[in-house]
Amino acid sequence: MKLAIVLGTRPEIIKMAPVIKELERRIVDFSILHTGQHYSYNLDRVFFEQLKLPQSKYNLEVGSGSHAEETGKMLVGIENVLLEEKPDVVLVEGDTNSVLAGALAASKLHIKVGHVEAGLRSYDRNMPEEINRVLTDHCSDYLFAPTEKAKDTLLGEGIPDDKIFVTGNTIVDAVYQNVEIAREQGNVLTVNRINHPPSPRGRELERGGNDSLVVEPGKYFLLTLHRQENVDNQERFASILKGLDSIAGEFHLPLIYPIHPRSRKMIKRFNLEPGNLQLIEPLDFLSFLQLESNARLVLTDSGGVQEESCILGVPCVTLRDNTERPETLEAGSNILAGTTPERILECTQIMLGKKNNWPNPFGDGIAGQRIVNILMEADL
Ligand code: UD1
Ligand code: UDP
Repeated sequence: MKLAIVLGTRPEIIKMAPVIKELERRIVDFSILHTGQHYSYNLDRVFFEQLKLPQSKYNLEVGSGSHAEETGKMLVGIENVLLEEKPDVVLVEGDTNSVLAGALAASKLHIKVGHVEAGLRSYDRNMPEEINRVLTDHCSDYLFAPTEKAKDTLLGEGIPDDKIFVTGNTIVDAVYQNVEIAREQGNVLTVNRINHPPSPRGRELERGGNDSLVVEPGKYFLLTLHRQENVDNQERFASILKGLDSIAGEFHLPLIYPIHPRSRKMIKRFNLEPGNLQLIEPLDFLSFLQLESNARLVLTDSGGVQEESCILGVPCVTLRDNTERPETLEAGSNILAGTTPERILECTQIMLGKKNNWPNPFGDGIAGQRIVNILMEADL
């Protein structure tokens, strides 16, 4: 069996890592095709280095652009590579433009497609990720659904039962494999601020040096915010920032924001005020896991962070109107706050009162092994 793994962004690298590790362990013939959708060191290379992943054999270096520009360039580049490599299966993970391009290019060449994290739906077609998910699922041959709920969704859309495999989510593998290593980094949580916003009102935050801050476990909030529909819309972004600023004030805890370059660009473009937020550069995976597992609460619009906070037992407030991860709402680890300041504050209050003894609905941490087993046993 010969595999090609197509990936291009931070979450794909993190969530495909357990599959890649398993392929290496089983000495399967595979190559990695990186689209180059993410290219900044701290969104890309750092994860290859830290997770000790093999080099990509190809990098298309498509960079950033409109959806059509990104996806179009990827399609052409991926097709060329697949014609040369002739893999039996192309594996993709998640819902980005790189995923759609990989699945589409492969299926048009009659190469089998395996979709890791299949069957997620927000039912919000305004999100580019939703289009990518639906189209990818419908041209895939092996649909690796993380939960029974995701499988039911796929069955409901007419996808045959024998194409769907419930494996758990590889994010559990990634968290379990790395969280202890992250904790061994020590209890001192130091972050390096991008700038010097006004001092937070809380005293929990000490200065740990010129531009670095030391935070205590359980005494800070962690924020990630980068979705196109949130940060590319000035009114929405401003409304969320207002809500976040009021939280930092109300609860007297610092709010740490490893800021995605998209959001940084848009804050500047809209001339928005990050107020009490402590902006830091995007973090490597181990540092992020350490900050996340020790946070009092997480606020996010990220898919992966909703899952990780659920797995780590940290309450989550999701800054969106919907989620393709309803399992987290059912477990009780997550709440949908939308984007108005009042509701963000209210939801934070609710989640701070929660007992964090919810179950983990995303599996047992061996999804990567299951996926490789299924592919090895497949009739290719
Ligand atoms: C993409 C995915 C999103 C995923 C996110 C993970 C799509 C449609 N969106 O969003 O689902 O949650 O990745 O982080 O595929 N930029 C850099 N350096 C980089 C990459 C991007 O500075 O390495 C900046 C550029 O200004 C770029 C902007 O970020 O225009 C957006 O990048 P893009 O890859 O188009 O989308 P993401 O917001 O990263
Ligand atoms: N993450 C990270 N450093 C950061 C922020 C996030 O390593 O500064 C990791 C996080 O642990 C999770 C993944 O990135 O595994 C989530 O990716 P992202 O939010 O970019 O994309 P999404 O999950 O929304 O598609």
